[in-house]
Amino acid sequence: MSDILVDSFGRLHNYVRISVTEHCNLGCQYCNPGRVVGATEANLLTYDEIVRTVSVLAEMGVTKVRLTGGEPLLRPNLEELVARLRAISGIKRVGLTTNGLLLANKVQKLRDAGLTDLNVSLDSLIPERFSRITGGGDVSKVLHALAAGFKAGFEVLKLNVVLMKGINDDEIESFLQLTLKYPLYIRFIEYMPMGRDLNGWEAGYMPLEGILERCAKAGFSLEADPHLGRASGEPTGKEADSGPARYFRIQGAAGEFGLINPVSQHFCNSCNRLRITANGHFKPCLCWNEELYIRPYIGQTELLKQLFLRALEAKPSQHMMSGQPGTMPPLKATNRLMSQIG
Ligand code: GTP
Ligand code: 5AD
Repeated sequence: MSDILVDSFGRLHNYVRISVTEHCNLGCQYCNPGRVVGATEANLLTYDEIVRTVSVLAEMGVTKVRLTGGEPLLRPNLEELVARLRAISGIKRVGLTTNGLLLANKVQKLRDAGLTDLNVSLDSLIPERFSRITGGGDVSKVLHALAAGFKAGFEVLKLNVVLMKGINDDEIESFLQLTLKYPLYIRFIEYMPMGRDLNGWEAGYMPLEGILERCAKAGFSLEADPHLGRASGEPTGKEADSGPARYFRIQGAAGEFGLINPVSQHFCNSCNRLRITANGHFKPCLCWNEELYIRPYIGQTELLKQLFLRALEAKPSQHMMSGQPGTMPPLKATNRLMSQIG
């Protein structure tokens, strides 16, 4: 395949994240502070356009799609999109990252439509704190949705916990405890400096290296061979190709925990991700502003392929969340919030 999605650093891109809306029913401090309402909601890509775009990307080597937002479940009939994406030749996995508030009633339909991967954001198990972090969310709805997810047959349910110093880092042990009892894959994620007002972001940033120590202090020993694992950095598990987390399992636990370090140990040199924003911009890197507006070209397969390849040529070697401009080309950091990228 000559139009395979390889960038100028030799990285193969087989994973596309598609934001289906910029709207969110929560206003998390680190993602969507002040509940920014997407300016683009009137110009959302239609499901037809998304399916056509992914069909072209699949011809170029993409095998995995993740639906994101904003909150993707705010988009009506998302299960229809899931089913249509799963029907595309070459697409093996379709995932969803959601805050879970609207999930309980939808999860069986999504499963039946062929959803393969389900990631739920959950930063606190304490109701008042969860409400404070998210701008009014009800944690019991998320917990109820997780139970519904298991009932619907998802064997691998991942939780995303963005750790923030002084805000939820005292709950690490509680999350570890959850893995003992439930087959959950709980990923602790470093807070990434995204968005417009980054003054003082370091105050909330917490590198993850202390977690293994806290795990040992709590009396937990680790198993040598976690299921999803890349325990020692080696791809050993059944999903080793699927994400940046390093997984660990406490002895005898039903689930696992993972560490995602996008800032302190960025995984840019193995980045396989592309993004499409809700209104049709192709974004080869999360953190840089470089984007290409593809909407007018959806339907013109050859032209679209050329555009993807051209945009990929501009993909930088790495993001700059940890500073060190070094020899980077003169790119502009993105001023989009995470909720506007997905
Ligand atoms: P897997 O299920 O492991 O494949 O997860 P995922 O990374 O595909 O999905 P998810 O949407 O759950 O994102 C998890 C975390 O990964 C986010 O909280 C971000 O911190 C981080 N992340 C996602 N995409 C990128 C990216 O392109 N670059 C960087 N640096 N971090 C990312
Ligand atoms: N840093 C780290 N993770 C973030 N997410 C959103 N904003 C940030 C940030 N600034 C997470 C969400 C969701 C995933 C897609 O990204 O919690 O789980």
